Amino acid sequence: MATATVVKGLEGVVAANSGICWIDGYAGVLAYRGIDIHELAENSSFEETTCLLWYGKLPGRSALQEFSSKLAESRQLPSEIYSLLRSFPKSATPMEVLRTAVSALSFYDPAENAVDHDSNVRKAFALTAQLPMLVAAFDRIRKGRDIVQPDPSLSHAANFLWMLHGEKPIPAATRTFDIALILHADHELNASTFAARVIAGTLADMHSAITGAIGALKGPLHGGANEAVMKMLFEIAHQGGDPVEYVRSLLAQKKKVFGFGHRVYRTEDPRATHLRKMSEQLSRDSGNMKWFEMSRRIEEFVRNEKKLNANVDFYSASTYTTLGIDLDLFTPIFAISRIAGWAAHVIEQLDDNRLIRPRAEYTGPEYPVKYVPIEKR
Ligand SMILES: CC(C)(COP(=O)(O)OP(=O)(O)OC[C@H]1O[C@@H](n2cnc3c(N)ncnc32)[C@H](O)[C@@H]1OP(=O)(O)O)[C@@H](O)C(=O)NCCC(=O)NCCS
Repeated sequence: MATATVVKGLEGVVAANSGICWIDGYAGVLAYRGIDIHELAENSSFEETTCLLWYGKLPGRSALQEFSSKLAESRQLPSEIYSLLRSFPKSATPMEVLRTAVSALSFYDPAENAVDHDSNVRKAFALTAQLPMLVAAFDRIRKGRDIVQPDPSLSHAANFLWMLHGEKPIPAATRTFDIALILHADHELNASTFAARVIAGTLADMHSAITGAIGALKGPLHGGANEAVMKMLFEIAHQGGDPVEYVRSLLAQKKKVFGFGHRVYRTEDPRATHLRKMSEQLSRDSGNMKWFEMSRRIEEFVRNEKKLNANVDFYSASTYTTLGIDLDLFTPIFAISRIAGWAAHVIEQLDDNRLIRPRAEYTGPEYPVKYVPIEKR
């Protein structure tokens, strides 16, 4: 039997050509379509960044205006989806709800099985506009509040905060949230994007690919880590103990500290640099430094003790909490942003498709094993 080299977790395996996102894990560089994430975080908006990811270059003023208007006009959900959201148990997590509702949205798509380029772009607009609506609407429903309809005059970031809280956000909150959306928008072949490409590669539709991607993002080794970080901070605060001692004990039990480590980065995750800054600024502005200071101490300890850096999820936890967002909305918010990258990758995959179908090194009983009839077992 021929043996192959197995790369567990596909670490370092190059599985696709892609012109969307570039990472240098040793230098700590992340770039969308060649543009450094720091420049985008400082100067761009989620709309402009999404346009860049989908069309390959920065839009001019009128193209951006057109793109933003089209995205705002796509903020529509079929009435059946609102009924569906109301029918879910109030105890369902928003991430489960998002996964199920995105799957259900395909019933109402005018060409649900179409996988041509133009259909994919149309679905990308629809889903990018609809994901925030689903998350905000379910949160309002489970809290017994009225659903807030989208405001087409607001940006993507401001509109989500408006639909979630029912109050127009202050500019600082909108800008912080917008930057968080930019930072999370794409990250090459991360697990959920890879899942989306695998699904799209079978010529299944965009909704199937995004539903699968949401499922992959949910896990605490991927997008679910931001929620796990905040749960840890809450638990430390609840116990009233020392954050460093808490984390020391986790490590002594060989447990993972969520929000640290990365498959690709060997330096600081460049997204963490911005989130740390934003978390600090928001905490100062709100007069509550508790979560930021706790995070800082944990970061310093884990860096010294394990040589592990904070990743994108570590400071997004304190950032979102300071913005008044519930912890089980953190991972859905990741999805609200990452839909831009997922869609870009599905479009790219289907523009030049080949089925993704690797092999496994067989480790089961040696062939041939005789079939034993049930009465003789
Ligand atoms: C992101 C992650 C899944 C990458 O995993 P990976 O490339 O497969 O790396 P491994 O899990 O094999 O980790 C390599 C080593 O570092 C340790 N390590 C990695 N991340 C760690 C963490 N967050 N806490 C404690 N130890 C960690 C592992 O225990 C392992 O140690 P060992 O070689 O002594 O067994 C991993 O770092 C992790 O689980 N982080 C926490 C979850 C998280 O924040 N995910 C979001 C990523 S953006």
